[in-house]
Amino acid sequence: MCGIVGMCGNSDAVPVLISGLKRLEYRGYDSAGIAVSLPDGLESRRSVGRLSNLEKRLSTKPLAAAVGIGHTRWATHGEASERNSHPHFDQENRIALVHNGIIENYQELKAPLLEQGITFQSETDTEVLVQHLAACTQDGTEFLSALCAALQDARGAYALGILNQAEPGRLYAARLGSPLIVGRGPDGVYIASDVPAILPQVDEVIYLEDGQIARLSENEVELFDLQGNPVSPEWKQVELEENAVDSAGFETFMLKEIHEQTRVLQGLLDRYVSGEQVLLPDLNLNDEALRSIDRMMIVSCGTAFYAGMYGRLLIEKFTDLPVETDLASEFRYRDPKLSANTLVLAVSQSGETADTLASIKMAKEQGCPILSICNVEGSSLVRESQHLLYTHAGPEIGVASTKAFTAQLMAFALLALHIAKLRGDMPADRSHRMICELRGIPLCIHRVLEQREHIQSIAEKHHDGPSSLYLGRRFNYPIALEGALKNKEISYQHAEGYAAGEMKHGPIALINEALPVICICTDTEDEVAEKMISNLREVQARNGRIIAIATEGDTRLDGLAGDIIFVPRSLERFSPMVNVVALQLLAYYAAHARGTDIDKPRNLAKSVTVE
Ligand code: F6R
Repeated sequence: MCGIVGMCGNSDAVPVLISGLKRLEYRGYDSAGIAVSLPDGLESRRSVGRLSNLEKRLSTKPLAAAVGIGHTRWATHGEASERNSHPHFDQENRIALVHNGIIENYQELKAPLLEQGITFQSETDTEVLVQHLAACTQDGTEFLSALCAALQDARGAYALGILNQAEPGRLYAARLGSPLIVGRGPDGVYIASDVPAILPQVDEVIYLEDGQIARLSENEVELFDLQGNPVSPEWKQVELEENAVDSAGFETFMLKEIHEQTRVLQGLLDRYVSGEQVLLPDLNLNDEALRSIDRMMIVSCGTAFYAGMYGRLLIEKFTDLPVETDLASEFRYRDPKLSANTLVLAVSQSGETADTLASIKMAKEQGCPILSICNVEGSSLVRESQHLLYTHAGPEIGVASTKAFTAQLMAFALLALHIAKLRGDMPADRSHRMICELRGIPLCIHRVLEQREHIQSIAEKHHDGPSSLYLGRRFNYPIALEGALKNKEISYQHAEGYAAGEMKHGPIALINEALPVICICTDTEDEVAEKMISNLREVQARNGRIIAIATEGDTRLDGLAGDIIFVPRSLERFSPMVNVVALQLLAYYAAHARGTDIDKPRNLAKSVTVE
C-alpha cells in the first residue's frame, strides 16, 4: 500500500526520494508526490499514475533540497487524483505531511476545523491530520509538543513523514500501526516504509515502535514517546544485500522469485533441520507449553490463508491437536471462544496486514499465546508475537506472492513435525522418514522449473478464455485455490478454485469446450487419486479442456487430459510445494501472453495495511 521515504542529508534529497519511491512501487500505488524544505518555504510536486509522471513533472519544474519527503499513494479516502495525492499541507503551507494508514476519527477532527473556516483541498483523512497539527501549533506551542498533542487526538493507524517550514533542516516521523523505519548512512539520515527503499543509502536502521516520534536532522536522530519524553534509539546493522532486491536479469521480479524457490526451501531445511532433528530457534515453545495447548487457530489473508489451510491439514495429520483456520478479516469479528490454551497462529509475508494484526491483538487480549509464521523481521506482527517462525524467503517484490508462499508451506511442514515430536505424537522413525522426504522437495521444484517452456506453451494455448476452473483435493485443495488466485491476480482472467468433490454441487454447470479445467492429480498414495480421476472423467464427458498436473510415470491420465504437466514424485502431503510452482508458471505465462503488468497488477497492493 502507500509508501513513504524521506531524507535529511548533506546533498540533494530529490534523487534519493525518487529512487526510494521506485523501490516502494511494488507495494502498489496510483499517485505519487514529494515535498522539500527550501529556504523560502515548502514546495511539492505531485502527479497521478506511475512515478514516470512525477519524474516528468520534476524535469519541467525541478526541485533540489537537502531535506524532503516522498510518498506513493494507494487510494482509500478519495479517488486517485492529484489533489488527493500526498504530501498534504495545512492551509498556510507551513507543514507538509505524508501518511500511510487511516485516521479513523478524521470526521470528528475535521468538524471544528471547518467551524474555524479552514478550507480543505482534498477528500483525504491525511489532510485533516495536517490541518489539525497546524491548529495545535497556533498558540505558539513548540512543534514537537504540538505533534504529540495532535497524535494523541488521532485514532487509527499511521506512519508519517513531516516537514515544518520553521525548521528547514529537520524532518519528523511517527508511527502507530503502520511500518516505518529510520536509517542512517554516510550522506544523511532517512525514513522509509521498509529497508529495501533506502538500502543503498543506509548502514543502520531503527524499527520505530508504535507510539514513537523521530526528529531527524543531518547528523542526529532523536526519538520521543507520544508524551514527548526522550527514548533511546536502538540501531540495528542492515544485513540485507543489494542483490536481494534487484531482478537479477529476469524479465520480472515475479519470475525471479519463482526461480528462487529451490534455494529458499533448501535454505529453510539447512537452517531448521540438523541431522534428523527439526530445531526452530525462535519458536520459544517448550514441551510443557506445547502440551498445555488444546486447540490451534490459524488466521491469515489471501495466499497466506491458503498456506494456513495446508498447515491445518498437516498439523492434524501429524498431531492430535484440533486445528481451525479462518480468514483474519472474518475471525476478528467472530466470537471464536478462545482460551489461554488456544494457540493462535498468524501467517503473513509482510507482517503488516491490518486484519491479521487486528486478529492477533484480539486473541492476545483473550490470553492466547501467539505464534507467527512471518517473512519480515521487525514487522508489526513479529513484535506482537511471543513465538516466531521466520520464513527467510528474502524480500518479495512481485506483488503476487510466490516464494513466500512455498516458504510458508515448508515452515508448516517443519512446525508440524516439531509439534508432533514434542507432544509425542509421532515415532522417531516416521519423523526421520518425513524429514528425508522433505529434503527431496527443492530438487523436485528445480525439475518443475526446468519445464518452464512446456508450461508456457500450455498457458499460451489457453490464456484467452474468460474463465478457468482449478480443482484439487485434500492437501492440494488449497493449491487449487492458490493457483486460481495467482491467475486472477496477474492475468486478470477470472478463475475459480474448488475442492474437486464440490464440483458436482454447482461449478459443473460451467463446463464446456471453452473452459480450461486445471486438475491437480498427483496423489501417489492413492487415497484421493481415484476420486480425482472420476472428477476428470466428469469434466471430459462435458468436453472441458483438461490441464492436469500429474506425477511422472503416471499413465492413468493418458487420453483423459488434453495437456499434462508432469512433476516428480513426492508424498501427497508435501506435493503442494511442488505443484504450486507449476501453477505459478502457468499463471505467469498466461499473464505474459495477455500483456499485463505482472509485477504490479492493477488495483493490488503488496502489503494491505488498511482494513
Ligand atoms: C496474493 C497475495 C496476497 C497476500 C495477502 C496477505 O498473491 O500476495 O493475497 O497473501 O494480502 O499478505 P501477507 O502475507 O503479507 O499478510
